[in-house]
Amino acid sequence: MGALPEWSAEAFDADGLIVSVIDGLHERGWSVTPDFLSPPIVAGLAAETRDAWREGRFRHAGVGRGEGLEVRPEIRSDRVLWLPDSASGLVGRYQGMIESLRQAINRELCLGLFGFEGHFAVYPPGAFYRKHLDQFRGIGERTVTTVLYLNEGWDEEDGGQLRLYVDPQDETRFVDVAPIGGRLVTFLSARFLHEVLPARRERLSITGWFKRRS
Ligand code: OGA
Ligand code: MN
Repeated sequence: MGALPEWSAEAFDADGLIVSVIDGLHERGWSVTPDFLSPPIVAGLAAETRDAWREGRFRHAGVGRGEGLEVRPEIRSDRVLWLPDSASGLVGRYQGMIESLRQAINRELCLGLFGFEGHFAVYPPGAFYRKHLDQFRGIGERTVTTVLYLNEGWDEEDGGQLRLYVDPQDETRFVDVAPIGGRLVTFLSARFLHEVLPARRERLSITGWFKRRS
């Protein structure tokens, strides 16, 4: 891969990316930001994901947590690989952007976010994740969900949309977001039910959660 432009936290919001995320979270509780990462960085992250997949480093994703964690393929059939706390390379660069976003959210929305946990996710063709909430009942940890898509040349017909139920009072209202490379989706983890519809091609992403002390 060719040389990438230097990245710095100061230069990063030149395009108003952080502002777009914060406005969405503030006004509606969710946001969809195109081109959060540039195509060469998305391509590099997708290549890293595929390498790790070939090396057999992904595991079936679970449902629940701690001792209640179970693999339930009828609920979700994606595979995940957790990110280290501070990675090098492109993942580290993404984590740097996420850290800038965390600080901006705390400054503007006072959510008291203190940390981030995230994983690569691979949905093989036909895989899905049924309707769910990212926050476990009674545990106030996961506060804002972030999903970054790594799929180059995604078509509407490829499916694999994130279906976000935007009105907690009316389950017939939803938006479908295609997992287009570079796109970042965020939403308040405890508020919005969502699901991943099956895709006809492999679907790659980095999903994460900003956490608050419970
Ligand atoms: C999740 C999830 C959404 C997506 O991993 O909890 O809902 O679009 N992912 O990949
Ligand atoms: Mn989810």
